[in-house]
Amino acid sequence: MIVGVPKETFPDENRVALIPANVPHLIRAGFEVQVEAGAGTRSGYPDARYREKGAALIRNRADLFRSAHIILQVRGYCANPDVAEGDFDMIREQQVMIGFMKPCSNAKFVKNLAERKVVAFAMELIPRISRAQSMDTLSSMMTVSGYKAALLAANTLPKMFPLFMTAAGTITPAKVLIIGAGVSGLQAVATCKRLGAVVKAYDIRPAVKEQVESLGAGFVELDIQTEGTEGKGGYAREMGDEFYRKQRERMKRVVSENDVVISTAAIPGRRAPVLITADMVAAMAPGSVIVDVAAEGGGNCELTEIDRSVVKQNVTIIGKTNLPSTIPFHASQMYSNNITKFLLNMTREGKLVFDMDDEIIRDTMVSRDGEFLNTKIFQVVQETGQSQKENAESQEIPHTK
Ligand code: NAI
Repeated sequence: MIVGVPKETFPDENRVALIPANVPHLIRAGFEVQVEAGAGTRSGYPDARYREKGAALIRNRADLFRSAHIILQVRGYCANPDVAEGDFDMIREQQVMIGFMKPCSNAKFVKNLAERKVVAFAMELIPRISRAQSMDTLSSMMTVSGYKAALLAANTLPKMFPLFMTAAGTITPAKVLIIGAGVSGLQAVATCKRLGAVVKAYDIRPAVKEQVESLGAGFVELDIQTEGTEGKGGYAREMGDEFYRKQRERMKRVVSENDVVISTAAIPGRRAPVLITADMVAAMAPGSVIVDVAAEGGGNCELTEIDRSVVKQNVTIIGKTNLPSTIPFHASQMYSNNITKFLLNMTREGKLVFDMDDEIIRDTMVSRDGEFLNTKIFQVVQETGQSQKENAESQEIPHTK
């Protein structure tokens, strides 16, 4: 079977789905590997490295789609709706497509794949179970996002992060607040600590306190009822308006005491909760910085503008999305390791075996033989009469990173 790796076409996407180091793993498992020429160039993996590792370079994208049985992508067809339409005519029946798919946001595209009888897998649906940890692309990409958010904040703040005691006087350390201490939030905590800032973090899930403290940061406790804030799989539950109103009210002072706020709060499949209002921004010191890692999901700050850096009330608010693509070498390495493990998990003697008793395969399979096996996706596609926003909001499916 031939594994094909096309060049990514999503705007500003610098990652590649498979790096040269993973090519021999696939060859040993019985696959041939074909890579579109230039696919790894923007992430630091030149064509020659793929060739050295045994992959064939294919100049023409249509030839690659024609010969490959399995297509590996970062942004799969459904997660790249504006551009990937051009690929549709090249996609073949029974082709296996693996990548981030945004299956609940782009129902029309999911339907197209199913009608073409593609076997599609969405990497964002990998279950968060121990056996699947090495395939967990969401965690990998969130780790990169948290790290990059800390660097963006440090680079934008007109102050230095660490304490300096110099002949020219003492420089006090910057104060950083992280809101939402999941995978990206914890990585932002660790990176800001390493840069020498005084770091505090807040999350509605009380279980996070211990993790934050183990990184040497302080945990912010707000006087609100946290019972029932954690749902299935350790994810936060969506709370009511009254809860968020109280949270914002109690967080206002904490936000104003910090030079930097990095917000990562998210609820799977829902709009990100608005936790930082314009009033709270106005109460921050001039020159302060907010990095809204949740920008793609609607943003945690009321004033965030998607993919822009804006200065409002003398505070810089950064709404850059797709942060992993800004560190493409290592983001691709992590993604490639994850997707290789995922593919090998369903490979027996060079052939793909879709064992539907395997939770990893069952949960990630978007469509096969024109059918939707994931009941959540089936519902979304059935309800295509609904607006896409309603579709996304009605499903508890993780976001793409
Ligand atoms: P996420 O990206 O869905 O959300 C980020 C964080 O925002 C979460 O910690 C969430 O509690 C927090 N949040 C939501 N609403 C908030 C609010 N109103 N105020 C403050 N914070 C708010 O979460 P992520 O990073 O995907 O992690 C979710 C869970 O999955 C965690 O429990 C994590 O430990 C767990 N996990 C398990 C893995 C495994 O078992 N293999 C791998 C990775 C994560």
